[in-house]
Amino acid sequence: MTKAFIFDLDGVIVDTAKFHYLAWKNLADSLDIPFSEEKNEQLKGVSRVKSLEKILEWGHKILPEAEFEALMSKKNEEYLSYVNQMTKKDILPGVMETLDYLRSNGYAIALGSASKNARLILSKVGLEAYFEEIIDGNEVTKAKPNPEVFLKGIDALGGTPEYAIVFEDSLAGIEAANIARMTSVGIGDKSVLKEADFNFQNFTEIDKSVIETLIKFKK
Ligand code: BG6
Ligand code: MG
Repeated sequence: MTKAFIFDLDGVIVDTAKFHYLAWKNLADSLDIPFSEEKNEQLKGVSRVKSLEKILEWGHKILPEAEFEALMSKKNEEYLSYVNQMTKKDILPGVMETLDYLRSNGYAIALGSASKNARLILSKVGLEAYFEEIIDGNEVTKAKPNPEVFLKGIDALGGTPEYAIVFEDSLAGIEAANIARMTSVGIGDKSVLKEADFNFQNFTEIDKSVIETLIKFKK
């Protein structure tokens, strides 16, 4: 098999990480739980349920199940109000060029996201057709850093982990790719994503020669 590429969605393909932050921040404020960008970093790549559990833990709060569910719905409603305004312009710089290059050179491409809104977001920005396989929060039971989402992705593409190259913006996601023994590529702050095999600020730094390097890399 030639190498296959698995993309995370939020914060890698589209700038939705800021929408998640806004919605969690408003929720935390309503509960009087201090919340910062630094704390938010720990929620990146983490499922909706786990994220709320963490916020409540930080605030030393335990809520009845019905209230917990209501807060999850409220957060998602606010998040979707931002998502519903998304268009192609929300695709992060350089992503289209990389996807076009990979597709026109015949590389397999999958999505590996914790989000249950992944398909909606891909259709909003018109990218669904690029992905041979989409593994999202509806198909996994174990949140990143558990590698389930990426293992399912490479399996669906008919490959094995050593052939997979994962693009991730979260600590949990880089850890998941590393646990799966896949090539991990950090997109964003190198000081946060220091466990990645490669680091780039964004996709404008990823040209043909970088892709060749990623393909040749053996862990
Ligand atoms: C991840 C995001 O991709 O998806 C997290 O990085 C988010 O911030 C998680 O909580 C779940 O997303 P959703 O859309 O199902 O709430
Ligand atoms: Mg992400």
